[in-house]
Amino acid sequence: MKISIKLGLWFFICIFIIEASSMFFLHRNVVHSLVNEELNALKLRGNSHRDVIEISYDKATLHHIKIMESQTDTEVVITNDVGKVITSSKTVDKEMEKILNTKHEESKNGLIIQSDWQDERYISTVSSFQAPNGEIGFVYMFKSTDQIQHVISRLNEHFILASVLIIFLMLFTIFLLSKALTKPLILMKEATRKISKGDFSVSLPKTSNDEIGELSTSIQILANDLNYLKKERNEFLGSISHELRTPLTYIKGYADIAKRNNISEKDRLHYIHIIYEESNHVSNLLTELFDLAKMDQHTFSISKEKVNICLFMQSILRKMEPAFESKGVKLEFICQKETFAHIDPIRFEQVFLNLLDNALKYSDTNTLTAIEITKKENIIDINVRDQGHGIPAEDLPYIFDRLYRVDKSRSRLTGGYGLGLSIVKEIIDAHGGTISVESQLNKGTCFKITLKGLYDENRFADR
Ligand SMILES: Nc1ncnc2c1ncn2[C@@H]1O[C@H](COP(=O)(O)OP(=O)(O)OP(=O)(O)O)[C@@H](O)[C@H]1O
Ligand SMILES: [Mg+2]
Repeated sequence: MKISIKLGLWFFICIFIIEASSMFFLHRNVVHSLVNEELNALKLRGNSHRDVIEISYDKATLHHIKIMESQTDTEVVITNDVGKVITSSKTVDKEMEKILNTKHEESKNGLIIQSDWQDERYISTVSSFQAPNGEIGFVYMFKSTDQIQHVISRLNEHFILASVLIIFLMLFTIFLLSKALTKPLILMKEATRKISKGDFSVSLPKTSNDEIGELSTSIQILANDLNYLKKERNEFLGSISHELRTPLTYIKGYADIAKRNNISEKDRLHYIHIIYEESNHVSNLLTELFDLAKMDQHTFSISKEKVNICLFMQSILRKMEPAFESKGVKLEFICQKETFAHIDPIRFEQVFLNLLDNALKYSDTNTLTAIEITKKENIIDINVRDQGHGIPAEDLPYIFDRLYRVDKSRSRLTGGYGLGLSIVKEIIDAHGGTISVESQLNKGTCFKITLKGLYDENRFADR
């Protein structure tokens, strides 16, 4: 069953029960108070006749009462204490007689003796009196139930009309409401079906700020992410095949030449050397890609240990110094003493080698590369700053993407794959840290690493 029908049906059943029960109670109360009012009015009228009789009990008064009542829609019957009719505004009929014969108590204030307006012909009250001469008697008041039944049947008609109108309005409102409520759900269902079929180009409207709106936003974000991943995967595969095709074309071409008989042994060795270099290139690329794939699957393990980051950095710098010296790039190292970090040294060596390799690759002679390590409370900040070529602002958001290189042609010369920074980012992420970059074209670049929640020296001992 469709959700709009289901929702509408539930709404209808709930509101119908509420409406029917409140209509029922309202109707009952209105009828009850209407009949009560009639009975009270009848009783008061009987009481007022009694008052008059108690003041003056003579023929003229009785006649006057009789005449008065014959002009109204109520009837009066006055009897003596043994039930003999003294006077009446109308000939006493069978139904009246039945009431007159029912036993009842004496009551000065009047008594309701017949209130059944549905099945009887009259509703009736009685008030007892004691005439000035000491005689006792009763003033019976009657009112035909026809009139009450007529009023109540008119009331019923109004109630039925109102109920039908309410049900009609209710159905209309429920129809609109369930459509409005289920429309975003139906859109989301269609969107998720499209996503499950591999079509991520969905666009869901931002409908509201409630849970349904949030769900819609989440589905939209999911679709956008999947779309981005799909695009990235295609681009990634395209870049890899490109990266592999170039060295393999070299290898094939030089192998072709090296195989010929008419070339000198020196040339052959030269070609074999190129083939060796290019194979190395492919092999390194595949190793790095394999590393990244392992990081993606979270199968690469990180074994953290307490590392004195200044000493650790110094040993890395010692390895890099000759390369920097030969290019004429100065290295500067500032470190806050006794800074301990909880890191995997092998992975972190990869991080710094990549960052320093970039700083060297993209800097000119007579520039400075500075590494600064500071510690504030439990947070370690590591800045690797160079005075190199810088990165254009439009490329900055993508430099941590796989195989992304700013200057493709130059990078082939310098031999980069565009994988270094993505590996760096994966390792930092796996350590729960963050890495960001600031760069100005032709002025330099600064990579900032923040490692959070690392234990300080004293607390570390307890762990
Ligand atoms: N310090 C830097 N100064 C200027 N540009 C940089 C710097 N570091 C990175 N880049 C730019 O970002 C791109 C991506 O860097 P990344 O280290 O990922 O790749 P790569 O150095 O080209 O190749 P790989 O590191 O895989 O050998 C580089 O191609 C370069 O254009
Ligand atoms: Mg690099």
